[in-house]
Amino acid sequence: MQIIDIHNHFFPHSWPDLAQRFGTPNWPWIKHTEAGKAEIMVGDRFFRHIYSACWDPEVRLQEMDRDGIDLQIISATPVLFAYERPPEHALGCAQLFNDAALELCSRGKGRLRSLCQVPLQDIDAACNELSRCMRAGHLGVQIGNHVGEKNLDDPGIVTFLHHCADEGAAVLVHPWDMMSRERMPNYMMPWTVGMPAETQMSVVALILSGAFDRLPAALRICFAHGGGSFAFLLGRLENAWHHHPVARGSCEFPPSHYLNRFYVDSAVFEERTLRFLVQTMGTDRVLLGSDYPFPLGEERIGSLIRGSSLAQQVKTALLGGNANRFLGLTSEPHNDLNIPASVAAKANSAAVAEPEQLTYSSYLKVPELLELQHPQSSPPHHDELLFIIVHQTYELWFKELLHDLDAVVANLRAASANPESRDGVYEAARLLRRCTEITRVLVEQFTILETMLPTHFLAFRDKLEPASGFQSEQFRELEFLCGLKDEKMLRYHRPTPEAHALLLHRLEEPSLHDVFFAALKAIGKLPATASTNDREQFEARARAILSLYKDEHHFRDWIDVCERLTEFDELVVSWRLRHIQLVERIIGIRMGTGGSTGASYLKLTLDKKFFPELWEARTLLTG
Ligand code: HEM
Repeated sequence: MQIIDIHNHFFPHSWPDLAQRFGTPNWPWIKHTEAGKAEIMVGDRFFRHIYSACWDPEVRLQEMDRDGIDLQIISATPVLFAYERPPEHALGCAQLFNDAALELCSRGKGRLRSLCQVPLQDIDAACNELSRCMRAGHLGVQIGNHVGEKNLDDPGIVTFLHHCADEGAAVLVHPWDMMSRERMPNYMMPWTVGMPAETQMSVVALILSGAFDRLPAALRICFAHGGGSFAFLLGRLENAWHHHPVARGSCEFPPSHYLNRFYVDSAVFEERTLRFLVQTMGTDRVLLGSDYPFPLGEERIGSLIRGSSLAQQVKTALLGGNANRFLGLTSEPHNDLNIPASVAAKANSAAVAEPEQLTYSSYLKVPELLELQHPQSSPPHHDELLFIIVHQTYELWFKELLHDLDAVVANLRAASANPESRDGVYEAARLLRRCTEITRVLVEQFTILETMLPTHFLAFRDKLEPASGFQSEQFRELEFLCGLKDEKMLRYHRPTPEAHALLLHRLEEPSLHDVFFAALKAIGKLPATASTNDREQFEARARAILSLYKDEHHFRDWIDVCERLTEFDELVVSWRLRHIQLVERIIGIRMGTGGSTGASYLKLTLDKKFFPELWEARTLLTG
């Protein structure tokens, strides 16, 4: 896998005097101060110190080797955009630097590629220059995040983005010409405050205007500097979208729906922020971008990602895999020869990729999955990973159980609605068989955790408090769904209002137990009784079961459902028992982190049954 840096800049060693060429003042020019060093001037104003990596491919390649970078996608610097100037001047400037970029790439031994720039104040001219550049070998375009008062949702700019998608051009959005400069005269605030806000504004404009609804999914667009403040403030945006009609704009879906429509680069300079960005945007949406070789760029390109504790697969995606997709590259040819621009152009266009393909990893979200284990112990205790993974696998199986048991409920409802048809009954029995097999695995799985010594668990146990199995929302959901409803257990979910609301819903809706006996009523096996006496009702239900077993010839399918439910009940008790044995083996009779008396409390749950009538019926049976 190639390591690709998609955000870095160049300046040619020299270029014609633009003020003279266009007859207007204050164009950028380069002042060489000493060997390998220069200043960028705008008119007679100092703009930035730069060094030879900007124009000398040898220096650049050496530093890429030093940092383990295979490929850099160079782009000019926003100070050259010239969006505020007459379009023909901006076009002339763009052409000059676009050709200079290709010339630099042609001396880059196949390890440099480029993004062009366009006169975005004139959409036709911008589209034409983009097409010319794509034919000449650029991989896409770098655009400023606004053109004067126009944000990226401007209809003309959206048309241009459409054209980029048609041309297969990758688009890098770079903040520039920062807002409110008069209020940010000091401390480089235009860079540290203005740029992130500018970028956020661009993303928000594209989302809320509905532009992403209209633009083709083939558009590959990336926002520099981690997307500015967008990810951090997504919650605020989402909240406004849901609660204030005026904040909704014209997009069809809430803002978070559009996260898979764009990329952001990794230029955030801090691991916590990088992790947050990856969590928010997804592991497939963040690309290595360094802002090299400018003073605020990453000093050792890629060191933030490489040195982070992200999973290796995630690092691989961020360092190159995602960039391959963003740039539309297939496997990159590595050319050690000096190649002329025209040949480089051909090589570039040959590398334009087929559409994105589903892979094992992208389908199963393997990188995301492997990113979800975060030990609390520091340094991480060896066994904490096992502890986390075992719990996570339980939760995944709980999810599947809920999925299947909900389907069992739906099938039993169908059986009630149409007592003549046996389809629902067969299907319910089939799915229940799956549930029992899963639960069998869940009982077995405790043995893996028992390979952990009690001393090893105690070494990190205090880091887990006050987290406790009591807070397993899905376990409680399973109990409520099957019919064991204990409202008191809701208190453990107060800190998580969504879980609390879901459990409340489960508490109120008819359970599997209710639906099963309603079905027996529907097929005439359980007479509607006027009795309000719980015991009498219970006995009536047990007798209904009994009557099924006594008429095996006619009710084989229903008996199958009863047997599966009994087995499920039995296996859940086995799960409770094995859990208690594990608890005793690991922490003896210590209290639980959830505040219970531990094993002695858990033993009280052993008598719990989902379908006690199925067991009672056994007592009532006679030979
Ligand atoms: C070292 C391993 C484990 C220990 C020491 C342990 C300990 C405990 C304790 C003491 C409780 C009682 C509640 C409390 O006071 O916190 C409990 C409850 C619970 N644990 Fe575990 N547990 C372990 C592993 C697991 C695993 C692997 C699961 C799998 C999901 C699990 C799921 C649960 C559930 C769902 C409850 C609530 C049970 C109920 O309310 O009936 N535990 N655990």
